[in-house]
Formats: sequence, C-alpha cells, structure tokens
Amino acid sequence: MKSLFITGATGFLGGAVLARALSDTSIESILLLVRANSPKEGVERIRNNLAKFGCSETLLTKINERNILLGDLAYSEDFLNDDRLSGVTHVINSAAVASFGDNALIWKVNVEGTLKFVKRMADVAGLVRFVHVGTAMSCVPEAGTLVTESMTRKPEVEHLVQYTWSKSTIEQLMIEQCPQLPLVIAHPSIVVGHSEEGCRPSSSIFWVFRMALMLGKFMCSLEDKIDVIPVDYCAEALLLLTKSAVLSETVYHISAGDTGSTQFIEIDKAMAAALNQQPVSSHYQQVDYSELVKGRREFKTIYGPCNERLMLRAMRLYGEFSMLNVRFSNKKLLDLGMSPPPRFVDYINRCVEITRDFSIPELMKVDFK
Ligand SMILES: NC(=O)c1ccc[n+]([C@@H]2O[C@H](COP(=O)([O-])OP(=O)(O)OC[C@H]3O[C@@H](n4cnc5c(N)ncnc54)[C@H](OP(=O)(O)O)[C@@H]3O)[C@@H](O)[C@H]2O)c1
Repeated sequence: MKSLFITGATGFLGGAVLARALSDTSIESILLLVRANSPKEGVERIRNNLAKFGCSETLLTKINERNILLGDLAYSEDFLNDDRLSGVTHVINSAAVASFGDNALIWKVNVEGTLKFVKRMADVAGLVRFVHVGTAMSCVPEAGTLVTESMTRKPEVEHLVQYTWSKSTIEQLMIEQCPQLPLVIAHPSIVVGHSEEGCRPSSSIFWVFRMALMLGKFMCSLEDKIDVIPVDYCAEALLLLTKSAVLSETVYHISAGDTGSTQFIEIDKAMAAALNQQPVSSHYQQVDYSELVKGRREFKTIYGPCNERLMLRAMRLYGEFSMLNVRFSNKKLLDLGMSPPPRFVDYINRCVEITRDFSIPELMKVDFK
C-alpha cells in the first residue's frame, strides 16, 4: 500500500486500525484526518489514543506532524483542497458520530460531510480502495435471524436511533453518487473491548452487560445470543479488506457469526467468574421496559449517583437491541482467509479488570456523546 489515509484514528476502531497499520511493513505512508488546533496537538491526540492499544514508544514515535491532516467532517470543504489527498491510494474511513444520543452533528457529519469527502476521494486518479466503515445494525435486522450482507434499506421509522439511519443513508448516497469510487463497505457487528487490552481503548457497550447483570433483570432472555467482536479483530479485518487485491463483494460483515456469537447466560457466567461473584442467572428476570421504569428509584442504590432518565433511556435503547438475538454471517470474510474472532467470553475478564473501579454512569458516557 503506497499511501493509506485513515479517518477516525483518535477513536476506537480507527485507533485500532492505526495501531495495527504502524507495524505493517507493506504500508509505505500514513496520513490521518484529525480534529485539532495544530499538527502538534494532532500528533498528541493520536499518540494518546494509540497508547491505549498497548503500542510501544517506538511505534508512537512513528507518528509525526507530517502524518496529520487537520480537518473536521462537519466542515469538509476546509480540508478537501489539501494536495496530499491527491496522492492517497487507500482509505479507511472510520470517522463518524457514533452515538445513540441525540447529537445534532450526526447528520451533518455522517451524511453531509462524509459525502463531500467521498466525492473528493472519488476524483483521486490513483485511488485503489476506499473502505467505508458502516455498521451491521444499519440494515435493521429481523429478530432471531442469521443476517447475510445486503444493501436493502429500511425506512427511517424502523430505525431505533438516528445513528443507524444516518449510516444507512450515506451508503446509499455513496453508491448512487460516486459510481467510480473503488468502494468496499465493512459492516462490523458489535465491537466490545480489545482481546488483550480489554476496555482500556474504550468501554463502549461493555457497560450495558454490567448494567443489566447488576440489575438482575433486563429485556432479553439469557438464552438469546449476541454478536460481539473485539476491536483488534475488527482492525485486522479492515486492513485485510483494504489490502486484498480483488474483492468480489461490496459489503462484508466483520462479525462473530453464528458459531462465534455468545449467549447472555455465558456472558453472565464469565463476568461473574471475573468479578469473583455468583452468576445472576438463578434469579434473573426477563422483563419489559415498563418494569424497568418501575424500578427507577433503586438505580442510585445499585449504580451510585446517576441520572435516572439517562439510565432509562439507555435501558430502553440497548434493551431493544439486546432482544434482537441476531447473528451476522461472517462467511464472506472467512472465505477471504480471515480467521474467526476470539469469543467475547474468552477476553471478558480483561474488560472486567479495566472497568472494575468505574461506575456505570462513568463508563456509559462514551456512548452518549
Ligand atoms: N463501536 C462499535 O461497536 C461499532 C460497531 C459497528 C460500526 N461502528 C462504526 O465504526 C466507526 C467508528 O466508530 P468508533 O466506535 O470507533 O467511534 P468513536 O470511538 O466515537 O470514534 C469516532 C472517530 O470519528 C471521529 N470524528 C467524529 N466526528 C468527526 C468530525 N466531525 N470530523 C472528523 N472526525 C470526526 C472522532 O474524532 P474525535 O476524536 O475528534 O471526536 C473519532 O476519531 C463508526 O463509523 C461506527 O459507525 C462501530
């Protein structure tokens, strides 16, 4: 790869991609889109994030100001004239407002700003591959199914959050408006922790499992399965999709698939073992949302100081997702030579270790930006 451009490298997935790319000798040069006031600050932001992925000092010092392209996707026009973009051969576009909250920037960044950026890159003569990081959830999967990759779109009303609607919309716009773009769309399932660093890079979504188990009741059945992958596996797959000379498909799940997905009862058991506690499965209750609302006065006792309304909002949103019991087929990715991911329960102890001293309200902030 001559010149790899990564967006979102101060974040969870993009940071994991960069951490891996830095030790990949087949990559000649790396350019990073970063929001910062100066290239120096950009370098600092990137290095601080890389440190959470266990990168050595030697790897951290590989990043310098020449790697930084200052820019904000909410104001794409301010950076799209940078000449360095014309020399890019490969892109991993991981930047987005990845929030289940009501963030006014979701549409402006994930759709409008991203489309301007994509159009600019579609005009780059030497561009070999543009890997866009979407989300498997943007297809609004049917409950209880093994989902295969597709570009079928569901209407906005069927989306649980504006985030998945924005991700579904940009994919359609890229395909319609940039037919010449060498586009591959990656659909990660649910990315939780890192197989070695646990939740050090991010506590995103991990807190949901702890929140439900601390409560002893939630909206899913313990028999249901969830499709979880660690971020380092996701990064490895994104780089494979970027480097593979020939790809026969446009959309690839990066997922645990049917066999790699995990039942909540297994998660309970593994989490309890890591915390040296009893599993909650003997007294767990599957309840609907109204039952969770009735227990709101207990939240402060269970979770410590918290905003009851935000806790309920989190329970309703993530509760709906938890009841889906969907798995995303990873056959296409495995057919490319990717090995199956580690199972969530095989590294959950590292996630528990890192988050042990944090409260749920502290851990959940990352998903309600
Ligand atoms: N995490 C998951 O479970 C999961 C699952 C499936 C798909 N995905 C997808 O993976 C991608 C990355 O998600 P993530 O979990 O890594 O999110 P994240 O940790 O919140 O990182 C988001 C990245 O995007 C950057 N960004 C946000 N707004 C920007 C803007 N206006 N201009 C430029 N950069 C901007 C952030 O930069 P700052 O640091 O400056 O804010 C950060 O580097 C997203 O497209 C998401 O849809 C995530």
